[in-house]
Amino acid sequence: MKPANIITTLTVLATSVAASIIPRDAATILNDVKTIKTQLQKVHDDVQAFPGGPSSALQALAIKSDSDTLDKTLQQSAKDAAASSPLSDSDSATVATSVTGLQTLIYSTLDLLVSKEPGFKTAVFGGSADSIVHDTLVSLRVDTAAFAGNVTTKLTPQLQKLAPLISSDIDFHFVRAIQAFST
Ligand SMILES: *[C@@H]1O[C@H](CO)[C@@H](O)[C@H](O)[C@H]1NC(C)=O
Repeated sequence: MKPANIITTLTVLATSVAASIIPRDAATILNDVKTIKTQLQKVHDDVQAFPGGPSSALQALAIKSDSDTLDKTLQQSAKDAAASSPLSDSDSATVATSVTGLQTLIYSTLDLLVSKEPGFKTAVFGGSADSIVHDTLVSLRVDTAAFAGNVTTKLTPQLQKLAPLISSDIDFHFVRAIQAFST
């Protein structure tokens, strides 16, 4: 065997060993949650840096672009969750904990956005960016609910019962933010 072939064989073996330790489905969902968290943090930081007013078109654009990236990740994550097998007890607990861990960042991002709403009224060269933010939030709400819904169907029955409490609280925050931009 040539050295390159040996390395390839070892890589394949190592990968299949890793895959047998962490079930692929749970690992995929956990990895998606990690990506969502990183991209959501980016949006949060964009909103925090948004000064508001006529000279903030570039910052408004960054919020839009990073939100769209997050939205695509949520769509893919919903598909990954839908494709997953039902999760074991321990995987259900790990996945539920990880998804629940997104709550604080979701709330602080939406609250921050709402608090900065007046600044969006003149953000696009003096014109309002409210409708763009509104439409983006509507998509994020739908895709977040689809992701949460698809993950929920893979959890153990006990955890499935708890999930609506969290999902509806997240949805409530989205509705409130969407209302703030419905001017
Ligand atoms: C699963 O995600 C799809 C979009 O990929 C969505 O249409 C569907 O409503 C979701 N299912 C649940 C149970 O939320």
